[in-house]
Amino acid sequence: PRYFALLPAAGVGARMAANGPKQYLTVGGKPMLRHAVDAFRASTLVTHTYVVVSPDDGVIDSVLPPDLDGVTVLRVGGATRMDSVLNGLRALAGVLDERDLVMVHDAARPGLTPALIAKLIDGVGDDPAGGLLALPVVDTIKRSAPGAEGIGVSAATVPRNGLWSAQTPQMFSYALLLRALGSAPDANAITDDASAVEMLGYAPRLVEGHPRNLKVTLPADIRIAEMYLANKED
Ligand code: CTP
Ligand code: MG
Repeated sequence: PRYFALLPAAGVGARMAANGPKQYLTVGGKPMLRHAVDAFRASTLVTHTYVVVSPDDGVIDSVLPPDLDGVTVLRVGGATRMDSVLNGLRALAGVLDERDLVMVHDAARPGLTPALIAKLIDGVGDDPAGGLLALPVVDTIKRSAPGAEGIGVSAATVPRNGLWSAQTPQMFSYALLLRALGSAPDANAITDDASAVEMLGYAPRLVEGHPRNLKVTLPADIRIAEMYLANKED
């Protein structure tokens, strides 16, 4: 099979509240998006990488020069992550084959490595349901109920046994991912690709990821990402 990467990079980074989209912030000497793209470029298993940006993006050419080997930018980003991925997939009709495997990866996860990409590909194997990197939940999880004031009270503890935090890449055949995202009921409720695939009745395979592959969401995450980027062994 052939393996492709598709990176949604059309978000605005509201929670980061930086001066511009977070995927262009420099961490460990390079823009965050460039780290993620370079992990796929360095993988010998990946045929080509596609990056979805907003149609009015004015920064991408300096982050990914148009002549950069193995990468194509698609200016088809949408209002939600799901829309950006779906638009990207649709733009690749006729370029990708139904059976090609697509790894969708957040541009805001700079800690990805070629080893993790290889681990995902190996762990999913030829499972038609695809799969994703994920980490076992380590915190004790509380379910809240409305309280007299503030954010509420802890009404119950949810057993964390069997709970996983989803990472990316998430890998599915081109045909399955297109069908899943194309039929998902509510783009705002879909925060990853596997959830849309699950709604079709498939059970994507869980492959253990790594903490270094965190999603940079809040300002403090930048320093954690930099710590991992400084040490390839972590
Ligand atoms: N993304 C996208 N198109 C959107 C929204 C998000 O391509 N309309 C991408 C982001 O650029 C990011 C990934 O999806 O690489 C994960 O989304 P998230 O971490 O939520 O990023 P933002 O949406 O930019 O951040 P926030 O939700 O805080 O605004
Ligand atoms: Mg978002």
